[in-house]
Amino acid sequence: MRYQGREVDVQGRVRLVMESALTARDRVGVQDFVLLENYNSEAAFIENLRRRFKENLIYTYIGSVLVSVNPYKDLEIYSKQQMERYRGVSFYEISPHIYALSDNAYRAMRTERKDQCILISGESGAGKTEASKKILLYYAVTCPANDHMAALGEQLLQSNPVLEAFGNAKTLRNDNSSRFGKYMDVQFDFRGAPVGGHILNYLLEKSRVVHQNHGERNFHIFYQLLDGGDDDLLHKLGLERNPQKFQYLVKGNCPRVSSISDKNNWKVVMKALSVIGFTEEEVQNLLNVIASVLHLGNTQFGEGEEGETFITTETQMPNLAELLGVDGSALGNALTHKKLTAKGEEMITPLNFEQAVSARDALAKAVYGRTFTWLVEKINQSLALKEEIYYSTMPSSVIGLLDIYGFEVLQHNSFEQFCINYCNEKLQQLFIELTLRSEQEEYETEGIAWETVQYFDNKIICDLIEEKHKGIISILDEECLRPGETCDVSFLEKLEDTLGGHPHFVTHKLANGKTRRVMNREEFRLLHYAGEVNYNVNGFLEKNNDLLNRNLKEVMCQSDNQIVSQCFRREEVMDQKRPEMAATQFKNSLMKLMEILMSKEPSYVRCIKPNDGKQAGKFDEVLVRHQVKYLGLMENLRVRRAGFAYRRRFEAFLQRYKPLCPDTWPNWHGRLADGVSLLVNHLGYKPEEYKLGRSKIFIRFPRTLFNTEDALEAKKPEIALTLQTCWRGYRERSKYQRIRRAVIVIQSAWRGMKARRRARRRRQAADLIRRFIKGFIYRHEEYCPENEYFLDHIRYSFLKNLIKNLPKSVLDKSWPTPPPLLYEASEYLRVLHMRNMVVKYCMRVQPEWKKQMVQKVVASEIFKDQKDSYPQSVGRLFLDTRLEREQINLKVTQTLGSEKVQYGASVTKYDRRGFKPRPRQLLLCNTFAVLVDRTKIKQKFDYMALKGISLSSLSDGMFVLHMPVSDKKQKGDAVLQCNNAIELVTKVAMMADKMDHVNICPGSIKFVMSRGKEGIIDFIRGSEMKVSKGRRGHLLVTVPRTSTT
Ligand SMILES: Nc1ncnc2c1ncn2[C@@H]1O[C@H](COP(=O)(O)OP(=O)(O)O)[C@@H](O)[C@H]1O
Ligand SMILES: [Mg+2]
Repeated sequence: MRYQGREVDVQGRVRLVMESALTARDRVGVQDFVLLENYNSEAAFIENLRRRFKENLIYTYIGSVLVSVNPYKDLEIYSKQQMERYRGVSFYEISPHIYALSDNAYRAMRTERKDQCILISGESGAGKTEASKKILLYYAVTCPANDHMAALGEQLLQSNPVLEAFGNAKTLRNDNSSRFGKYMDVQFDFRGAPVGGHILNYLLEKSRVVHQNHGERNFHIFYQLLDGGDDDLLHKLGLERNPQKFQYLVKGNCPRVSSISDKNNWKVVMKALSVIGFTEEEVQNLLNVIASVLHLGNTQFGEGEEGETFITTETQMPNLAELLGVDGSALGNALTHKKLTAKGEEMITPLNFEQAVSARDALAKAVYGRTFTWLVEKINQSLALKEEIYYSTMPSSVIGLLDIYGFEVLQHNSFEQFCINYCNEKLQQLFIELTLRSEQEEYETEGIAWETVQYFDNKIICDLIEEKHKGIISILDEECLRPGETCDVSFLEKLEDTLGGHPHFVTHKLANGKTRRVMNREEFRLLHYAGEVNYNVNGFLEKNNDLLNRNLKEVMCQSDNQIVSQCFRREEVMDQKRPEMAATQFKNSLMKLMEILMSKEPSYVRCIKPNDGKQAGKFDEVLVRHQVKYLGLMENLRVRRAGFAYRRRFEAFLQRYKPLCPDTWPNWHGRLADGVSLLVNHLGYKPEEYKLGRSKIFIRFPRTLFNTEDALEAKKPEIALTLQTCWRGYRERSKYQRIRRAVIVIQSAWRGMKARRRARRRRQAADLIRRFIKGFIYRHEEYCPENEYFLDHIRYSFLKNLIKNLPKSVLDKSWPTPPPLLYEASEYLRVLHMRNMVVKYCMRVQPEWKKQMVQKVVASEIFKDQKDSYPQSVGRLFLDTRLEREQINLKVTQTLGSEKVQYGASVTKYDRRGFKPRPRQLLLCNTFAVLVDRTKIKQKFDYMALKGISLSSLSDGMFVLHMPVSDKKQKGDAVLQCNNAIELVTKVAMMADKMDHVNICPGSIKFVMSRGKEGIIDFIRGSEMKVSKGRRGHLLVTVPRTSTT
């Protein structure tokens, strides 16, 4: 089947559909009757419906047909969230819903670029109109839209309350029964946005305007106007609020319906009219027409004595005339007289009472009926695709919505029911054409051998009604046109004559005894596909004629009321040709409708009414069984299941079940048919359980599919694990790759940075070297840019070097060689540094040490380069004294008295005569020195008197203190020897302040002995130290070359 393709692959991808919902099958029946095990049993079918209905699951599929059971209560399944849930999701993926069907049609239109239509059928009150409204709302909410389109969507939605007010009425079956057929096209542009709409209306039940069965009402608008219109308005229209005052509203004796708020609906309708674009004037005209119908109803006639008829409610006429915008007396005349044209001459003849009444009713029906058509046209104008949009968007496709009256069987069935049921026959035929037949064709195209399933083809009934010359409609027309006395009964007789013996046609006369009992003589019975219906022929001719007296038409043509004048055209009056009969008109419009529907891809909504009482939760099995039967649902199911309960395109089947066979998992790359074949073999399907077509697999029993589905369910954890593993692996791998890439980026950035830095350094270095070399070449020039760096560097590095190599002590005379430029500065620095060191050194020196230094300096001045033993003495410190206090005899100390001994040393004294060595102590006081022999002071040397001190240049310890000879007391010069001669002599010289009087004599020393005699001491170098008496009385001192002294 064509629409079968959609189940699988609406957007070009394979979707998993019905199977996923199978798990819930046991709880609330099956979501798709196709999966019903016992598909031949009507009881099982109804039981499934019932179980689901009890759970508020009002929708169930038969393949792609949606079966809907009216819940008669608000279910919370029509919210925006629900719409979103169904949007873009494949048909069978979630629970059945009108939205799933709407979405499916919408997407099929978008993807296949094929016009769609949704056929909603079912008997009155089964929920067709509600379903069509839900579909419309779904499109208005979910389709993409801009501002203009939003307005259009609103207008589309608002057309409903207007059409319902004028075309719906309360009937016994439905408080809001549509009394006209409606086919609505919604046009979409290539983006899928609604851009326009168009409505076709079919056969309004006009008879309702003038007559209602008991318990029924006239069209809603009358009650809405009376209940909702404000006082001013009613006054202007000449109306009273009480509906009981109007003849046209009292027939059913049912002015109020509890489920309907006329007042609120009035407001809704008035608002809707303005949304659709009615001007105030148009609304006023419309209300005038509505009011005029009520006034017409109240127009009463009286019969004169000569059988003439007159209007008894004259007071009413001006009002009526004003509302209709016509001349009052002309209207009054036209209502009571008829104009005939015979042999080119016009004749006016009065009407009798009945004729006048029916002329009045005909006018009311015509006015109302034509106004309704005008209303639809008006709505169409506002919904029409605006030209500029047409050219800018190029409409791509349309979705048609057919909400037409369902099959009707009433107590008394008349012409209207005949038309309605004929219409349903036609729709059933279309349904058979498109579903049952195409189902069989599918098997053919797939190359599957199967036995043709018998289904009832209602073509025979359609022919019975519509066939040319022989059909009921033709006979009716003929009877209407036939000159001479014709009446409804003659029509019945004609039918019996022509159609007697037809298997679907029975009359009282033709029927057998049993049927005859339940049939009226004025009835004929048709055996519709949906059941038997008896039609009473009364009124057939008149209703088919649908005649309005010519003079009434003439009056209406002249109306000031814009609507009336548009409804009654002058051309119609001029045209002598008889207009088509109502039934033929209807037949032709149905033909056109069938053509429209045939050109589109259909989806079906089959509505079922659960009970006759409009009660929630009540499931009347008898009633439902009847509907299931006449909607042909069992046949529909049987054909679907005839061979095979389930079919799926190979790719979809493989896609879902491939995990169940190792050869097809995870992917099958070979031919699809081979893959499927492998898979079913692995699953152990028996040959009688399935068939492989050209592109689809057909499975015979639901059980087989359920088992497979259960196997898949059991397999799922394993698949999930595999998927998880793969996914985790993939995730970790990509994480690792990401990190790796990041690391590489960081590395290369870092390396780049390093390399750039090194290059920069090298460049700088090269620069530096270049400048250095250049500077070197120019180094002898004046300070100039070429050499400034070099010279600065030389200076700088000299100074840096200097800091590191400064002399550490005053004795260190080293100093780095300065570059020529810095000679002067270097010299300054050197002096400065030396001074600094000296200052620092001096600051550090102790008084003791200073004394030592002073003495050493003096010693140096005296002895340096003069005496051999001097260098050895330099390193030895001079002591304060060489004798301790105890070593000096107390007596000597006492003798000296206040004179303190500053220095003492042991010396050897050589006698002046004989040069005998005598050990003595030499003690130095402040102004003199004494020579002491144990307790006795032997000799005293006043410093003042001291003439000089002599020493040899060798390293001996001999020294002579020269004293003046004049002094008698003096014993002459003293020849002394001491180990520390240099220290001692230095001390004596300093204390006596006789530094200039120390003589170093090389070779020999002359000295004065007592009484002026001169002695000589000779010094010679020898092997060891020796003091002896030499020749000529000289004292000979032999001094070793390297003296230890
Ligand atoms: N899906 C639904 N949910 C709730 N109530 C509904 C639904 N369908 C129909 N009805 C009720 O049933 C009544 C009759 O439905 P309607 O569509 O007018 O029937 P039809 O057009 O087939 O004659 C509505 O007025 C409403 O109260
Ligand atoms: Mg309806």
